[in-house]
Amino acid sequence: MNNLIIKNIKSLIQTEDKHRSFVSGTDMAKLANIENAYLIVENGIIKSFGSMVDYKPLKEHEAHMQIDASDKLVLPAWCDSHTHLVYPKSRDIEYVDKIKGLSYEEIAKRGGGILNSARLMQSANEDQLFEDAMLRLKEIINWGTGAVEIKSGYGLSTESELKMLRVIKRLKEASPLTIKSTFLGAHSIPMEYRGQQSKFVDLVINEMIPEVAKEKLADYVDVFCDVGFFTVEDTDRILNAAAKYGLSPKIHANELDYSGGIQVGVKYNALSVDHLEFTGDDEIEALMNSGTMPTILPGAAFFLNMAYAPARKMMDAGLPVALASDFNPGSSPSGNMQLIMAMGSILYRMLPEEVIHAVTKNTAYAMGVEKELGSICIGKKANLLITKSIPGIEYLPYAYGENKIETTILNGEVVIK
Ligand code: NIG
Ligand code: FE
Repeated sequence: MNNLIIKNIKSLIQTEDKHRSFVSGTDMAKLANIENAYLIVENGIIKSFGSMVDYKPLKEHEAHMQIDASDKLVLPAWCDSHTHLVYPKSRDIEYVDKIKGLSYEEIAKRGGGILNSARLMQSANEDQLFEDAMLRLKEIINWGTGAVEIKSGYGLSTESELKMLRVIKRLKEASPLTIKSTFLGAHSIPMEYRGQQSKFVDLVINEMIPEVAKEKLADYVDVFCDVGFFTVEDTDRILNAAAKYGLSPKIHANELDYSGGIQVGVKYNALSVDHLEFTGDDEIEALMNSGTMPTILPGAAFFLNMAYAPARKMMDAGLPVALASDFNPGSSPSGNMQLIMAMGSILYRMLPEEVIHAVTKNTAYAMGVEKELGSICIGKKANLLITKSIPGIEYLPYAYGENKIETTILNGEVVIK
């Protein structure tokens, strides 16, 4: 039984009386909270919350574990809707190449980058991949993450992609985090398919997707739709094939150019389109009134020294914005969502309220868990975080060098204290 009462909470943040799917435009600057609050969890689910003034201890509450959160904030745990955290090895050598001036595309062209990880993935031991990824999951729980999406994409052969997805399946079973898995067979074009890219797309469509679907290994499908990687036509074919197996898209789009990725994502009702450095008026227009969550990955833009996606322009147009870590060895070697929040406010001029929506409600939607996570709402899963003693929400993106999380609670149980 995981029953819990958190009392004397200085401020309970991101409360919702009525569930909303996501938060957009000017609403992103408004964040509901209750000062001097309590929250009751029963069987891992948020049972009730409110002001301490209205708190009435009941006899059955005596059996609940009690936490005093005086001087601390309580929030829904972060949802990180875009990661590649199953990988064989870091790529710090390329990091040095990059410092010397090679671009991401140049590194990729010489067989580095994603292909480098794919080469290592072929011989990687499944148990070792699992153990390494479990350590990364522990690390992100420590930073306050409660849900994470993990992609394949360092396989690039049927066998290796299935290996990665089986590791993600084991992580789902072993970790207290809520995990969604995404099949990213079309992440890069293997060397042996250079010059005959459509044959590789055929392999993804005719062999990989049916196998992945047969073993029920993925919740979603992804394609890296960008210059030098997969075209709009390739993406269209893959998303069309995946739809027949009920796989909704979440795609990499418009990181390197105005690739048409955003539009093709919207066409297939993608849950999210991610990166978005190259987003202009046409792309914003395509996203308006769609159910597709624009997701910015500040870690990758920072690490690759790229132009920043026009977050403010998107919100001014009335769009929602989500922020995710993109945790991967090549372009964002960190899953620290507090750092992502700091980047959101420092580099993208987002207000603290906006970044909190962007890493809770909007990322919950972008990974298809918005009905169970992303806000403090009765009936939702109790994936929560308690901060250390901090002055207020501004401090979360402000003091970017320190971990402000004291306690992470997953499924109503204290996991990190
Ligand atoms: O999201 N842009 C494409 N894919 C990953 C990079 C993965 C890698 O370089 O290993 C990304 O940044
Ligand atoms: Fe990515």
